[in-house]
Amino acid sequence: MIRLALPKGRTFEVARRALERAGFDLGGVDFDGRSLRHRIPEAGLELLLLKDRDLPLYVERGVADCGVVGRDVLDEVDGDLLVPLELAGGRCRLSLIGRAGAATPRAGGQVRLATKYPRTAERFLAGQPWSAEVLELSGSIELAPLLGLSELILDIVQTGATLEAHGLVELAVVREIAPCLVVHRAAWQTLRAELGELIARLEGAGVAA
Ligand code: PRP
Repeated sequence: MIRLALPKGRTFEVARRALERAGFDLGGVDFDGRSLRHRIPEAGLELLLLKDRDLPLYVERGVADCGVVGRDVLDEVDGDLLVPLELAGGRCRLSLIGRAGAATPRAGGQVRLATKYPRTAERFLAGQPWSAEVLELSGSIELAPLLGLSELILDIVQTGATLEAHGLVELAVVREIAPCLVVHRAAWQTLRAELGELIARLEGAGVAA
């Protein structure tokens, strides 16, 4: 049996649908209940429901054999994980965002940049001719430029509806983001057949990128 960690955040539905398309019957699982652990022997799976940011640690330590998590989250954590495939659905981007009329800062400029993604922000800023004080937030990022906490934000854009609702504009795409299948290094050996079948079924169902 494979112990597979699913993220409770924005990637959950994409991962669930991908597994179902690949022929894993999850119909009997009450994902809306309070249980965070679901054994589905007939599918050869045990599912763990984890906060997105915690998921890589569970896989890295081998508590879960594998998991599905967004590239945005992976970029923010340490850990030696295999990423054998990305899922085709749920793609989005991490973008530099400002209020309507804002522009990318001039060379030598200094601004404040609010984000849930401080590491990605620092990597991006290292290649820019302007600098920023990075302010780490854990949510409701859109409010920061509207209320003057920061000039810019680095945040996820998928449909663009959130930006539009707040009168914000995308100034630059910093990173394309896809949900990733992550695998524990030792499990890759000990569960070679099971993980190989999981990957083959995802690829066969056309839900892998
Ligand atoms: C992200 C982001 C925006 C929204 C963008 O939040 O922070 O709020 O999605 O999506 P859209 O372009 O389709 O409107 P997310 O749902 O990842 O979670 P959060 O609210 O916890 O930040």
